[in-house]
Amino acid sequence: MITSKELRKKWLDFYEKRGHVNIGAVSLLGDGTTGVMFNVAGMQPLMPYLLGKKHPAGKRLCNVQGCIRTIDIDDIGDSSHCSFFEMMGNWSLGDYFKKEKTAWSFEFLTKELGFDKNKICATVFAGDENAPRDEETARLLQEVGVKKENIFYLPKSDNWWELEGTVGTPCGPDNEWFYPRHDNPCSEHCDVTCDCGRWVEIGNDVYMQYKKLEGNKYVELENKNVDTGFGFERLLMYVNGLTDMYKTDLFKDVIEYLQQESQIDYERNAEARKAMRIIADHIRTSVMLIGDKNGIVPSNVGAGYILRRLMRRAIRYARQLNLSEESLNNVAKIYIEKVYNEAYPLLLEKEEYILSEISKEVAKFSKVVDDGIKEFEKVISGLERKNQFMAQKDPNFVEDKTITGKAAFRLYDTFGFPIEMTKELAREKGYVVDEKGFNEAFKHHQEVSKQSEKGEFKGGLADSSYECTRLHTATHLLLAALRKMFGNDVHQCGSNITPERLRFDFNIDRKLTPEELAAIENEVNNNIKKAIDVEFYELPIEKAKEMGATGIFDDKYGEVVKVYKIGDVSIEMCGGPHVKNTSELNKFKIVKEESSSAGVRRIKAVLE
Ligand code: ALA
Repeated sequence: MITSKELRKKWLDFYEKRGHVNIGAVSLLGDGTTGVMFNVAGMQPLMPYLLGKKHPAGKRLCNVQGCIRTIDIDDIGDSSHCSFFEMMGNWSLGDYFKKEKTAWSFEFLTKELGFDKNKICATVFAGDENAPRDEETARLLQEVGVKKENIFYLPKSDNWWELEGTVGTPCGPDNEWFYPRHDNPCSEHCDVTCDCGRWVEIGNDVYMQYKKLEGNKYVELENKNVDTGFGFERLLMYVNGLTDMYKTDLFKDVIEYLQQESQIDYERNAEARKAMRIIADHIRTSVMLIGDKNGIVPSNVGAGYILRRLMRRAIRYARQLNLSEESLNNVAKIYIEKVYNEAYPLLLEKEEYILSEISKEVAKFSKVVDDGIKEFEKVISGLERKNQFMAQKDPNFVEDKTITGKAAFRLYDTFGFPIEMTKELAREKGYVVDEKGFNEAFKHHQEVSKQSEKGEFKGGLADSSYECTRLHTATHLLLAALRKMFGNDVHQCGSNITPERLRFDFNIDRKLTPEELAAIENEVNNNIKKAIDVEFYELPIEKAKEMGATGIFDDKYGEVVKVYKIGDVSIEMCGGPHVKNTSELNKFKIVKEESSSAGVRRIKAVLE
């Protein structure tokens, strides 16, 4: 058995003995120079040196670098994908090239790790109109001991390495290394190109001969480099004769803990196994991202959003296994204290902070996740009912298997469900999500929020259902009541309406007393009882101002605006829609008053 700690050491020792300097690892967060959010490969921070700049540590470098790749997130849950992984790398910056590299890679695999040389396979670039076939590497591979029949020529899509979406970066043909997971081919054609699962890439030697220009053009680099990356987790699995990465010492204790906590056997229950792997993977990545030297926390944008997605997905699967809220923190502790204590000592230093950030996100999401899942189930049963009904009426009716963008947005906005999670839940039930509709709803929400932040709500209805329309009119009455009580400086700082309730933010810098809240409620209910007609006008903005309408007055001269007037109680520029008469509101009730942000209070209210 080779432990993870031993494998890291073996790699570094091997290359240090061959004149390389261990340059250590950098932050997992991209530094912004390559347009990549996370560090996705060991070579990324070395970009300037691969392009010719002199590296202070010399021409031969090595390290073990943490990387994040979330592109394969849907594959996580199988036996060999992970979102955080370590890449064992070594580089020649204009120094040695193919001859030395083919020999060392082969030697490392066969002598250091004991791989069977007859089973080792390699792939090389087959050539195309932009770059020639890599005959040289194929010949050198045979010379060091790879069997001729185990060398495969593959096209650019397989055997060429570059950072997608970037320009000015180094790239070139590569030589990938493969090893069979077991000795049972699925057919006589089961070679490295087969996707039956027997073949997994374990390492990659990139021969950086070119610099990438616009339009997929390449120019030869003056100093040709070697860029090597061997997947740490996968090698650890192979070298120990395992076919499941989660059985290596990196994950063993975590899986053991999850089994104990859930009382479910990892081996016997495929669904639970997937959940355990997802939790193990996602919490490991979360620990790494929060505990990084440029650590981040979950949020709704950029890298923080990816982190939130990972954490919320882990939380969802933890609930599936009936795990307690603390269990994710306990998983994090195993990584920090036992698995990565030597290789990532910073995690230990930041332990308290990492655990508190995980707890915070767990608490935040746990509060709403059950309600959100119920809401999701409601959406599905609504669609099912509709489909059954339509099918009875029309035998040719094609079932509607699409969750609307609006419903997906509501799950995001009210319950904090990342769209990817809604998609995943939908997929499990055989449904899809209207992503375009989601994006539109998202954009609309952003626009409305922007307007709200400016001072007044100007757009139309955050859904124009009757419930929302009634709450919308109630919002105008609420603002009017607040102004009556606190003066005309009170204005709207934010508004959000769902079919169930209104939420209204306004600029008062203290908690409202129960008496004040009762008086506001009373004022709104009196205006409902008065059964006042709601009048609608389209007027030039000057005229609206003359009438005393509130709203944003930065629009162009002469512009026609929509105005809603409720007797002499309220007059606001607003896109509507509104009810015809306040009596339609029936009864107004404040259910909550709280702080929204500094100097801003928030009222939530419902109509009966
Ligand atoms: N940069 C190469 C890779 O990521 C080694 O596979």
